[in-house]
Amino acid sequence: MTELRPETRAVHLPKPVLSGSRPITQPIYQTSGFVFDDPAVFASGFEAPDRPFVYGRMSNPTVRALEDAVADLEGGVAAIAAGSGMGAINTVLFALLQPGDHVIAQTALYGGTAHMFHELARRFGVEVTYVGEADVEAARAAVRPETKVMYLETIANPMTQVSDLPAMFAVAREAGIVGIVDNTFASPILCRPIEHGADIVVHSTTKYLSGHADVVGGVAVFASEELHERVWRFAIELGTTCDPFAAWLTLRGMQTLPLRMARHCDNVRALVPRLVEHPAVAEVHWPGLPGHPSYEVAAKLLPDFGGVFSFELVGGRSAGERFMSSVRLALMAPSLGGVVTLMLHPATTSHRKLNTEQLAAAGIGEGTVRVAVGIEHPDDLWADFEQALAKAGQ
Ligand SMILES: Cc1ncc(COP(=O)(O)O)c(C=O)c1O
Repeated sequence: MTELRPETRAVHLPKPVLSGSRPITQPIYQTSGFVFDDPAVFASGFEAPDRPFVYGRMSNPTVRALEDAVADLEGGVAAIAAGSGMGAINTVLFALLQPGDHVIAQTALYGGTAHMFHELARRFGVEVTYVGEADVEAARAAVRPETKVMYLETIANPMTQVSDLPAMFAVAREAGIVGIVDNTFASPILCRPIEHGADIVVHSTTKYLSGHADVVGGVAVFASEELHERVWRFAIELGTTCDPFAAWLTLRGMQTLPLRMARHCDNVRALVPRLVEHPAVAEVHWPGLPGHPSYEVAAKLLPDFGGVFSFELVGGRSAGERFMSSVRLALMAPSLGGVVTLMLHPATTSHRKLNTEQLAAAGIGEGTVRVAVGIEHPDDLWADFEQALAKAGQ
């Protein structure tokens, strides 16, 4: 070829080839696609998830590093990352379900997931039977020939009910249906659901896995290659893709996941007993409390009880509003799982699409406040809560 002109050289940039050293951290592969020397290898990239990278919507080395890291922590064989937790959940549900199918789902679910199940029923002809998170008999009675999926949350958002994963997934296994669990609240540090019979574990990586409230993402982890491939075939065209930079931020956060989870749990353990004793507080929902309906299941399943709790104030909703506008360290914001303490009012935010009956079925009160405890010093958090509780009680 003749000497290339500036216009051509400007787009065909030189790329360094590493030899003799390598980066400490996972690099960000910020590319939309991949270059091939061999047309047959190019074509093979579309055949299966373990072939060379082809196109960013299908995967990318930074995204794959995240998928492999979460699959490893969860004890799965492979994972598919998505642009959000709902992206991961919907990818799995839409890959596995079709009109006429039936799902058994836990009554208390994250509001977005609950809404998707209502939509699946209303618009896509998928019937859903709701059962309690530990109601094995109801789950067994709900199984029909058309049942394809059982869907649970390890620790439910926001009332922290804990699913009896081994007993519920034993029913799924007996019936030959796919057991899916949202493990966002527990993280693989508190629970590895595949060890308890789950076939697919989903996460909003927006929460504990990334851990710093700076990225939105999701992931689905698979216990078998067969399920992974089935969902992958659908996912690559669905377009719920994870961006490489989002994957990189999530990977960076995951390196401190065990440390952060320990601190979140310790902080909740420091705050909850003080709240229980406070005269302005009517009830605290946290599975580490012996009075919580899931206490026994949680004590058997989990080494600790997580970083989220909810509570009710004696003065109901108006007291809740006064409390939320009086706290200074805890921030009124959506989401959870980051280093800063966040709180919200589920009935008007995360679960706003549920009607009064659905809220009651999920155990959510009009005045419930959800707190996702960060990693601040617990005494500073308590001082803040105490001054806000004094105002809430007025
Ligand atoms: C338990 C749970 N699952 C799924 C989601 C959805 O995740 P995302 O907001 O990343 O789509 C959330 C969000 O709050 C959640 O709390």
